[in-house]
Amino acid sequence: MTKINRNLFAIDLESGLYDIFQKATRLHQAGRKIIHMEIGKPDFDSPQAAKEEARKALAEGFVHYTTLNGIPELRQAIAQKEKRANNIIFDPETEIIVTAGACEAITCALIALFEPGDEIIIPSPYFQIYWDAANMLGLKVVEVPLTVENDFELDIDSMRQAITNKTRGLIINTPCNPTGKVISLDSLKEISRLAIDNELVVISDETYDQFVFAGKHYSLRNLPGMKERTVVVNSASKTFSMTGWRIGYLIADKKFIPYLGKIHQSLSTCATSFAQRGAAVAFRDCHDFTYNMVREFKLRRDLLLEGLSKIEGLDCNRPQGAFYVFPSIKKLGLDDKSFCDLMLDAGVAIAPGSVFGKDYSDYVRISYACSRQDIKEAVNILTTTISRL
Ligand SMILES: Cc1ncc(COP(=O)(O)O)c(C=O)c1O
Repeated sequence: MTKINRNLFAIDLESGLYDIFQKATRLHQAGRKIIHMEIGKPDFDSPQAAKEEARKALAEGFVHYTTLNGIPELRQAIAQKEKRANNIIFDPETEIIVTAGACEAITCALIALFEPGDEIIIPSPYFQIYWDAANMLGLKVVEVPLTVENDFELDIDSMRQAITNKTRGLIINTPCNPTGKVISLDSLKEISRLAIDNELVVISDETYDQFVFAGKHYSLRNLPGMKERTVVVNSASKTFSMTGWRIGYLIADKKFIPYLGKIHQSLSTCATSFAQRGAAVAFRDCHDFTYNMVREFKLRRDLLLEGLSKIEGLDCNRPQGAFYVFPSIKKLGLDDKSFCDLMLDAGVAIAPGSVFGKDYSDYVRISYACSRQDIKEAVNILTTTISRL
């Protein structure tokens, strides 16, 4: 019998989100109208200027490996964006690696920073790839659960209590998928104290940094003593609606880069050459694109929240960022998967909460990366379906 890495047994591609997605696709193919609120991708086209540049790159024959860390013009353009948007100042020569999406960046960081048996703390609910990748590598994920009653506020005391002599790091995500929570500067300061006191490294996933509707996004890397112990992960996927281009990046102190580079070399060698050319134009010239898209997302958020607030039985937070809400369905008396199946039958695809952590089988994630018209229809369907329970 061929041997398979047993750490993979706990990861099930057919479950949770993929399950709903596949069922929704089958219903769609059978002619049913399904409103897609299960997926985490903006419904906009990528910026025209980025597409034109990628086309030009292809026409010029820019189709071979690039430098490992990414083409200089892309690294420069990302440095400009990070300075402008987040006041992150880094050296584009020595402190960045362009990866095949944020997912590769997260995996590179986990492999480079930790060893099998190490413990890492992740506030839950969280983006499921953290758990999958950590589990694959034999790391122990210690979840610190947050609740809608507490507005998904980080629980620093519980994080402190979760630290053992095996704890080596943390993953934070702000704005958060799936809750939309933006971590406050005060909480980031507490995280920095926790990390410094316990010599932890932090992976700070800032993929949704541009999707902030209330408050402000701060990067942990900018706090005193944190540049040396923070790996920032980000991406073009959401910022420019370029999920399929697979362009992400890592920003880290230059002492980490050679090690992160070794993993990146094995995983992808370099991000796709012509996609890098297009992304350089997006990061350099397409701020208006992001601004307009985010403005539309804020209108959608407000529309969805207004609708959900009128539905009895859903306890919903008020997300400040990203493009999801994560209501509790505890009062409905159904588990997440049964509720998602029911909603799918009624024509709305949403994601079960347990995809985002084991404690969330009484939550669901609703993405508002769909048109306002779809949001209005989905709210009507939710209202009718829940009123019949
Ligand atoms: C929090 C978070 N991080 C990272 C990613 C992955 O992004 P990418 O498409 O750049 O791999 C996602 C995608 O949904 C996400 O929600």
